Amino acid sequence: MEVLRAESISKIYCQNAVSLQALRSVSVTVQKGEFVAILGRSGSGKSTLLNILAGLDCPSEGKVYIDGTDIFNLSEEKRTLLRREKIGFVFQSYELLHSLSVMKNIRLPELKADDDYVKELLGTLEIGQYETCYPDQLSGGEQQRVAIARALVNHPPILFADEPTGNLDSKTERIVIDLLKNLAAKYGTSILMVTHNEELVKDADRMIRLEDGEIVNG
Ligand SMILES: Nc1ncnc2c1ncn2[C@@H]1O[C@H](COP(=O)(O)OP(=O)(O)OP(=O)(O)O)[C@@H](O)[C@H]1O
Ligand SMILES: [Mg+2]
Repeated sequence: MEVLRAESISKIYCQNAVSLQALRSVSVTVQKGEFVAILGRSGSGKSTLLNILAGLDCPSEGKVYIDGTDIFNLSEEKRTLLRREKIGFVFQSYELLHSLSVMKNIRLPELKADDDYVKELLGTLEIGQYETCYPDQLSGGEQQRVAIARALVNHPPILFADEPTGNLDSKTERIVIDLLKNLAAKYGTSILMVTHNEELVKDADRMIRLEDGEIVNG
């Protein structure tokens, strides 16, 4: 079953009268439970694509459908509601709230979150001991794992993760990938993950390679 479809997405950034084409007619479809890795050099458009597919930024051209709904045809308010219901997002720069504890950050998207599930996530990600700490008291890799837990807490059907293991050692990196793969298998979560580590995702269902804003393989 198809959960996401992007048709001919282009993105042109205009800044100080200079325009830059970050995406050129990119089309993608993602099935339920599919694990898709997005690869490409720095500046190739990976974060731009993820932001647009998740409805966080508008494309210059093209359409994005989530469960058949044209998300840029919705009001901002309706798009936010759809995002809250269907999407988890791990930002490249974490975007934790520094005035809130680890636990409050994680529960932010879902105050009614199931306690057992939150505990299980914290345990799997090996950050259980930091529940009451504040982000500034954690290392970069620990903050990254808090951001991963936050994105997963309300069981989103689609998870976008922008280099979610960029700051982790290889053992912890493996733990995160195995967690994501288990979620895809157990709950049918569709995962789109940007990474520079091709070895890590060699068993992904599919790899999308971006080069200069274009997909260079299927
Ligand atoms: N807000 C913005 N305004 C102007 N240009 C931007 C903006 N965001 C990104 N760009 C440009 O668009 C291109 C693609 O950027 P993007 O962040 O999508 O790359 P990336 O593949 O995620 O790179 P990295 O691996 O370094 O994270 C780059 O040339 C970048 O300079
Ligand atoms: Mg990026």
